[in-house]
Amino acid sequence: MRVISEISDLREVRRTWQNSGKVIAFVPTMGNLHQGHLNLVREAKKHADIVVVSIFVNPMQFGPDEDLDAYPKTIENDKRLLEELAVEALFLPQASDIYARGLEQQTFVEVPGISYMICGASRPGHFRGVATIVCKLFNMVQPNLAFFGEKDFQQLQVIKAMVTDLSMNLKVFGVPTAREDDGLAMSSRNQYLIEEERKLAPTLYVKMQSMVNEIIDGRRDFNRLTEEYKIQLAELGFSPDYLEIRNDETLLQPGHEDKGLVLLAAAFLGKTRLIDNIQFSL
Ligand code: PAF
Repeated sequence: MRVISEISDLREVRRTWQNSGKVIAFVPTMGNLHQGHLNLVREAKKHADIVVVSIFVNPMQFGPDEDLDAYPKTIENDKRLLEELAVEALFLPQASDIYARGLEQQTFVEVPGISYMICGASRPGHFRGVATIVCKLFNMVQPNLAFFGEKDFQQLQVIKAMVTDLSMNLKVFGVPTAREDDGLAMSSRNQYLIEEERKLAPTLYVKMQSMVNEIIDGRRDFNRLTEEYKIQLAELGFSPDYLEIRNDETLLQPGHEDKGLVLLAAAFLGKTRLIDNIQFSL
């Protein structure tokens, strides 16, 4: 596996791949890799000749109260995992190269509407940071295909909207959420959970499944249903941030004619914010 830090080196290697007609897949990450990330790589390998993974903890997508410096960094282990999967290249850019003119003056990409709701309402500016870095990384790697986890469902929809709106020449794939044996969605944040919280954490998904089953069985009073489940989650020890049933593409409130829906949830357990979602059809 080539480990590349310089943007110019990446561009040079990329040119040789392109000249030999290779299909290039890209998996952007912030490192601290787990099975969820590795599934993205495995899926990418099915569709492409070359897989490029990036690790960059993007300061622009962290809010002022979110601890960027505490984000777990496990670079040696990450490299080993990617080597085991025979990834062609790991791109490890420096923040000073990515944001060469500083963050204050940085040109940004913002996908309006979808970026402001749900997670975007709880984390103002977050999706601007995500869209900007993903756009920049796409410009550097110039992949044919890009792979993102469905766990960050809203992020995936924001990126798909950006690719459409900016006529970017690549295809975006969503990969199903990887789960622990007890159903908890895999996330770098799970390691912040203390023992008791970790035991309780899978209940979020259990409650979400039960909510979806109620809808499939005919419940349509979505507001009341979400309020009921927020109370249940709070009684269990979660601090629910949101529980929302939305159209699975636009993420708008569903109308009667909408068939493809998604239940999106975010809840704190202690200081750890867990997110999850379930897509379903009526
Ligand atoms: O999902 C993530 O890890 C990040 O939001 C991403 C897409 C790598 C952008 O920094």
